Amino acid sequence: MSTILITGANRGIGLELARCFVRDDWRVLACCRSPELSDELQALAAQHDRLSMHRLEVADRAQIAELATQLKAEAIDILVNNAGVRGPLNQGFGETDPDAWLETFKVNCIAPMLISEAFVEMVARSRLRIIAAVGSVMGSIAENSSGGHYAYRTSKAAVHMVAKGLSVDLADRGIISVALHPGWVRTRMGGAEAPLSVEASAQGVKKVLLGLSIRDSGCLIDPQGTKRAW
Ligand SMILES: NC(=O)c1ccc[n+]([C@@H]2O[C@H](COP(=O)([O-])OP(=O)(O)OC[C@H]3O[C@@H](n4cnc5c(N)ncnc54)[C@H](OP(=O)(O)O)[C@@H]3O)[C@@H](O)[C@H]2O)c1
Repeated sequence: MSTILITGANRGIGLELARCFVRDDWRVLACCRSPELSDELQALAAQHDRLSMHRLEVADRAQIAELATQLKAEAIDILVNNAGVRGPLNQGFGETDPDAWLETFKVNCIAPMLISEAFVEMVARSRLRIIAAVGSVMGSIAENSSGGHYAYRTSKAAVHMVAKGLSVDLADRGIISVALHPGWVRTRMGGAEAPLSVEASAQGVKKVLLGLSIRDSGCLIDPQGTKRAW
């Protein structure tokens, strides 16, 4: 049985990815920071023995290390660094809040790096050997035509670089590392006006993940499988 680990699996895109994979007979290691408050994930776990819930506040190094120790015997085919935050409410020019910016960076960029470092052995011993960071075209320098959103955009541009760096550093271990743009999706973060349903996004992301080859490593890929400009 193949195994996927997903961070931020209690709502939004992470929860829907957990649903898609568990229904396809995958084992799902569903991470969230407050399992006791995660009703929808609890309901999914109650329906499927293959899904287990794990506490993980991704900005907490001790929790990352503790979970990696607990799961050290696993083979993790796909590690999805999905947990993310939009950052402070106001991120326009002239509105810089350094502390809030750094918090955004910790969650969106540094946590995926630390989690990849902590779980690399489990990924390396799996069959598919994929590490995916959920990035965003909001972090694409080439595609930024509307400005603003400085904390969010820079944190996603930075995690794209993490994904690219891992694709180089882990290539000799056969690990594929990608950044994924999930589309503009109707979640708490994406808002009600987003064009894409969470189901359509997760189905697209799943198809992309399952179709990856080493040639895709180091790319930013959207749910249609199109490689996007950094
Ligand atoms: N929605 C979009 O249009 C869109 C577009 C491009 C990229 N993305 C990216 O897609 C990913 C998922 O976004 P979404 O739309 O599903 O957002 P969402 O509905 O707001 O969900 C965010 C998830 O991340 C978790 N999370 C946030 N901070 C965390 C932390 N410090 N530790 C652990 N978990 C944490 C949240 O957990 P809690 O419930 O505990 O807060 C929640 O499970 C994010 O990386 C986001 O940047 C989204």
